[in-house]
Amino acid sequence: MKSAIYPGSFDPVTLGHMDMIERAAGLFDTLYIGILINRKKTPMFSLEKRIEILKEATAHISNVKIISFEGLLADYCRQNKIDAVIRGVRGAMDFDYELPMAQINQKLNPGTQTVFLAARPELSYVSSSAVKELASFGGSYKDMLPEAAYRAMQIKYDETKVEGK
Ligand code: PNS
Repeated sequence: MKSAIYPGSFDPVTLGHMDMIERAAGLFDTLYIGILINRKKTPMFSLEKRIEILKEATAHISNVKIISFEGLLADYCRQNKIDAVIRGVRGAMDFDYELPMAQINQKLNPGTQTVFLAARPELSYVSSSAVKELASFGGSYKDMLPEAAYRAMQIKYDETKVEGK
């Protein structure tokens, strides 16, 4: 039984992430979606909310499990006997960022391999940060998100307006 982890912040999960999740779930027996707990950053959505959104967005994929982790990804993979790390590559900038990370992870834990999946060109402009930027300036971002994430973003921005933040 082969397992993989698709790690990230998922703040929020986008259709680009969803494409990776669906394709990676088809390659492995179990796909863990690993939400990084990063105490140095303040996410837009709490960990609990990101888990809830991801659970709803992936409810149709039977071999997906949502987990969270803190610390080194390589350690989490070793401790949980995870065979592969999935990362999506949208272009050269992603690759420049991803390659050294994969090489460091390979050094730290040679038992887990990084597998890069090429983003679909029609989704390669999609990112969580672009969604947040568009939302903050009132732009449209509906076609970048799964339904659960879109709903959560709308609620978040309504709250922001009411609280005058
Ligand atoms: O959503 P992101 O920001 O692209 O995800 C980045 C992530 C979570 C894959 C990466 O930051 C990570 O693995 N962090 C855990 C710490 C770690 O293992 N770093 C790699 C060694 S430099």
